[in-house]
Amino acid sequence: MGGEVIPVDPIHPDPAVIERAAAIIRRGGLVAFPTETVYGLGANALDEDAVRSIYEAKRRALDDPLIVHVATMAELGGIVAELPNTARVLADRFWPGPLTLVLPKVPVIPDIATANLPTVAVRIPSHPVAQALIRAAGLPIAAPSANLFTRTSATTAEHVVQDLGDRVNLVLDGGPASHGIESTVVAAQRNEARLLRPGATTPEAIADALSALDPTVPLLLGAVGRTASPGLMAKHYSPRASLFLLTGEPSETRPALRRAVERALEAGRQVGVLLVDEDAPLLEDLGDRISVEPLGSEADLGQVASRLFAAMRSLDAAGCDAIYVRALDTSGLGLAILDRLTRAAHADEFTA
Ligand code: TXA
Ligand code: MG
Repeated sequence: MGGEVIPVDPIHPDPAVIERAAAIIRRGGLVAFPTETVYGLGANALDEDAVRSIYEAKRRALDDPLIVHVATMAELGGIVAELPNTARVLADRFWPGPLTLVLPKVPVIPDIATANLPTVAVRIPSHPVAQALIRAAGLPIAAPSANLFTRTSATTAEHVVQDLGDRVNLVLDGGPASHGIESTVVAAQRNEARLLRPGATTPEAIADALSALDPTVPLLLGAVGRTASPGLMAKHYSPRASLFLLTGEPSETRPALRRAVERALEAGRQVGVLLVDEDAPLLEDLGDRISVEPLGSEADLGQVASRLFAAMRSLDAAGCDAIYVRALDTSGLGLAILDRLTRAAHADEFTA
């Protein structure tokens, strides 16, 4: 199919390259492109066959709907039937950026893009390459994360090629995605908003924006079923190695991490660890008996989030068969980090 990778400047992409990519989108092909969250696998959202080819390339289950990306608020009218006040307030505050809003759809959006739901997920990305591509194509672009279904999301063009190879016509390589974790998905209704997937926009920031609209409009957190949020499969974001997540108080999980790593080494496993800087002394003496991927300081969850998926892929590439990680604080971006780790740690195969 091609699978060509073209480097683009992430701030000032070459219009000729963008036009080539846009032409592929217009004729129903697949283009992987950088966004500020993760790489997306894009196709014309209005073309049923093109959208189907996204699912095929990712081997994605057809009951997991896609996000439709537009460049400006002016294009929303062609996608959503209604924009409640809650949605308008969140759009004003966070777009362009890492927020996805689930809203009633218009009929022109093919059912396959929304897995037959009456709603559509929509986002205005801020990345200049994503913006330029959508504008040049002149179409809304449906794009899930550009990884194989249930696997670790792609935060670089190299990850896209590892997973999708020549099943995509063109990969625009704009360097590493800056947030490194997906957008926050929110279902915005008239009198409430519900967090469907934690992500790069924090729940605290969303609640703050809502309370500026009306202090009685809540952001509902907590358990969301697969009916409301089909992407919430138990197994998701997983590296090939088994990932073990140690949850609890740091005073317990720090020594538990050390013990778990020792036991795995005794059992002859190839051990990898996703490690915050503060925990480095815990495992220092093990030297090169283990592979360590530094996540940065636990005080900088933005950095932890941006390194997380790439770090899992590095440990896979290093041949690890068991990856250990300690759960961190869940405030701010911590909720999204814990969500990804929890799903990545799920050992069973996904059954839809
Ligand atoms: O940051 C992102 O959101 C990236 C970039 C490429 O924009 N995209 C992304 O797409 O993460 P994907 O397909 O990996 O995740 C889409 C999420 C899934 O959890 C899906 O279930 C949810 O959005 N979703 C899509 N349409 C929905 C709908 N109509 N109702 C509820 N959830 C929906
Ligand atoms: Mg995904």
